[in-house]
Amino acid sequence: MSKAVSGFSKLSKSEKIDWLSATFFKNSDKIKKVLQQYWNSNEVLQNLHDDFIENTISNFYMPFAIAPNFVINGKVYAIPMVIEESSVVAAASLVAKFWGTRGGFKANVISTTKIGQVHFMYKGDKHELQNYFSLKKEQLFKATEDITKNMRKRGGGILDIELRDKTGDLANYYQLHVTFETADSMGANFINSCLEAIANEFKRSDIQIVMSILSNYVPECLVYAEVSCKVEDLYAENSKILTEKFVQAIQIANAEPHRAVTHNKGIMNGVDAVVLATGNDFRAVEAGAHAYAAKTGTYKSLTNATIENGIFKFWIEMPLALGTVGGLTKLHPLSKLALELLGNPSAKELMEIIAVAGLAQNFAALRALTTTGIQKGHMKMHLTNIIKQLGASKDEKAFLIDYFEHKTVTHNAVVEAYQKLAKDK
Ligand code: MEV
Repeated sequence: MSKAVSGFSKLSKSEKIDWLSATFFKNSDKIKKVLQQYWNSNEVLQNLHDDFIENTISNFYMPFAIAPNFVINGKVYAIPMVIEESSVVAAASLVAKFWGTRGGFKANVISTTKIGQVHFMYKGDKHELQNYFSLKKEQLFKATEDITKNMRKRGGGILDIELRDKTGDLANYYQLHVTFETADSMGANFINSCLEAIANEFKRSDIQIVMSILSNYVPECLVYAEVSCKVEDLYAENSKILTEKFVQAIQIANAEPHRAVTHNKGIMNGVDAVVLATGNDFRAVEAGAHAYAAKTGTYKSLTNATIENGIFKFWIEMPLALGTVGGLTKLHPLSKLALELLGNPSAKELMEIIAVAGLAQNFAALRALTTTGIQKGHMKMHLTNIIKQLGASKDEKAFLIDYFEHKTVTHNAVVEAYQKLAKDK
């Protein structure tokens, strides 16, 4: 049977599932059941989700959790996190509490400028192109007036349009490099609409417009967050040695891209979880963050730390293009709730919160890695998950946790210990 299909998008949801289960699965009833058990009985809600994307056949749940007790610039937040990886939320919560008793996190937005580009090819005289651009610039702004009207009311709009000669990188390649302020919206649609209007106004028979699109590299939409305390307040014992190890872990990430990628992945555990919970575009944030980490030509850590005059300082600086209005932010009931939980922050405040979530996650990872190792906490979580799956009672759970205190946790070992426990009863 052919596995190709035409007109799939035109089929109803049930027809899509019928075709899928008949074409790709042996037990079509089971497949239907699995997909249907995630349908929402609330028709309005289900239709909302169906309409977010195309060809929907079910919903894919992700856990929505809370990391409370984050003190940021003196304000207490309970941070919503959407993530499937165990230990991330527990780590965030522990770190929040830890720094809450040491002055909390301090964060500030450095800049909020976003970028879009009209890429074009031109083979003629460079000076003539420069003249054409200079004469046209005013009209380029005018061409976007309808689109920018509302944004200007909110304090945003187009900041500047520059002609950039890129022929040194690629023959005949130029661009209009456009900078934007998009206030509380992420601004992707706004930027792209402006760029297309600009391109349309700029085009000429000898100017070949190739494409007009925002850039997800936003090194001027930057946020900073830090924590600091006396070295002796960082660890209960051996604080000086352990703090030095912590700083060395960052130096290693800065010296070794293989480590830096994993180091930054841990940061993104925190960042993405809040980006997702608040209905923002985590792919855009990821792409921008990693490009920023490689801005020197070598991929490095997004965080840094120093020990100076007995004070440990740990900070993050990263680009974050976010919105608290528009897109999915208010459309998805859970994103709306997440933003309400955060006190309906401005995009700037959300940048600060999310940078803190990333910094906190990195703190937890480095503290574990340079002391007990990461597996101890993970295995504890793994153990409780297996115990839960086995349906153990409260007493059995307590026994098994105690039993595995100094033993290696594997699924088999836990099942065996549980079965033995049941037998011995
Ligand atoms: C796991 O999701 C993240 C870590 O690997 C991060 C790190 O190594 O820094 C623990």
